[in-house]
Amino acid sequence: MISTADPVSAAPETTSTERHLLSVADLGRSGIAEVLDVAEAFAEVERRSMPKVPTLRGRVVATLFFEESTRTRLSFETAAKRLSADVLSLAVGTSSVKKGESLRDTIETVEAMGIDALIVRHRSSGACHQVARWARRAHVVNAGDGWHEHPSQALLDCFTLRQVWAERAGVPPASMGIDCFDGKRILIVGDIRHSRVARSQVLAYDALGASVSIAGPGSLLPPSLAGWPVTVEPDLDDALTRVDVVSLLRIQAERGSGAFVPSLREYTEHWGLTSRRASRLAPGAVVTHPGPMLRGVEVAGEVADLPSMLATRQVTNGVAVRMAILFLLLGAPGTDPRAARPVPEGVRVAVGSDRG
Ligand code: CP
Repeated sequence: MISTADPVSAAPETTSTERHLLSVADLGRSGIAEVLDVAEAFAEVERRSMPKVPTLRGRVVATLFFEESTRTRLSFETAAKRLSADVLSLAVGTSSVKKGESLRDTIETVEAMGIDALIVRHRSSGACHQVARWARRAHVVNAGDGWHEHPSQALLDCFTLRQVWAERAGVPPASMGIDCFDGKRILIVGDIRHSRVARSQVLAYDALGASVSIAGPGSLLPPSLAGWPVTVEPDLDDALTRVDVVSLLRIQAERGSGAFVPSLREYTEHWGLTSRRASRLAPGAVVTHPGPMLRGVEVAGEVADLPSMLATRQVTNGVAVRMAILFLLLGAPGTDPRAARPVPEGVRVAVGSDRG
C-alpha cells in the first residue's frame, strides 16, 4: 500500500512499497479501493469551474520519460498542476542522457534539485524498481516499465469501470465500494506477452474479485502462465458473448511484436474487434483500451467510436486517479484532498456521497 509518510523522514537507500507505487501488487485490494475513493474526490474537483486545489503547494514533481508517451505523461503533469505542485519534465531526447549519462546519475542529479516525486517511464522492465533503490528521498511512481507493469493505467481502468456500473445503478461510484467487481468477467485480448498494461490489469482485477481471461495468438501469450490467475479463451467469438468487459491491447511493435504474427491483416482477421465481432458482445458489455489505439488493427474504426468504447473516458479519469496517487504519496496525513484543509481526527474523508 502507498502511504502518506513524510518523504524527508523516510529512510534513505530503501525500496519500500510504502514510499513508492511500483506495482499494483504494492496496493492490494484495500489499497486499490483507497485510490479509487480518493480519486472520486478529485473527480469532483475536476468538475469545478476552477479545477485546482492547493494540496501539494511547494512540492515538486518530475516526469522522466525514457520512452514515448502522450496520455500518461500529460495526465501526471496535469494531475500535479491541479494539486498546485511545481512540475518539471525532463526532455530525455535533449538531456545529458544523450551524452551517455547513466540512469543512476540522471536520477541522482534530478533528485539533488529537491524533487519530491519522480514519475518514471522506461523501456526496461524493472527500471522503476532500480530507480526506487537509488532515490534517497523522492517517491517513485512507475509510469510503465518495459513489459512489466503500468499500475496507474490499471487503476484508472478500474475507476472507469466502477463509474460506468455506478451510473447504470444510479448511485455514486464510491457507494458501490469494490464489491461491484465481484464475479465480473473481464477478457483481455491481444499482445499480452509484451503488455505491461495486461500485467497490472490482471493483478488489479483479480484482487478485486473479477474473473479474468485472456485471448490472443499463442505467440503473443506469455510463454508461461504459471502464477497468472487467468484462463485462456481459445475462441474469441465465443468468449465475447460471455463477458462484461473486453480490454483490448495494442500490438507492441516497439517490442518486436510484429515478428510474432504473420501479418497485421491476419491478426485483425483472427483477433481484432471487428464490427462483426462487436455485434456478438453481450448487452451492456463495455470495451476498454489504454491507448494509443491502432484503428483497423486491434479495433475497427467504427467500433472505436461506439458508446461502449471507454477509451476517451479512461483518459479523462486518468487525471483524477493520478491526482489520488500523488496525493496519497505526497499529501500531508489527515488532509482533505479537495481543499487541503486538515480533517479533524477520527473524521473520515467523505467521497462520492456529498456531491450535489
Ligand atoms: N496508455 C498509455 O500508457 O498511453 P501513453 O503511452 O500515451 O502514455
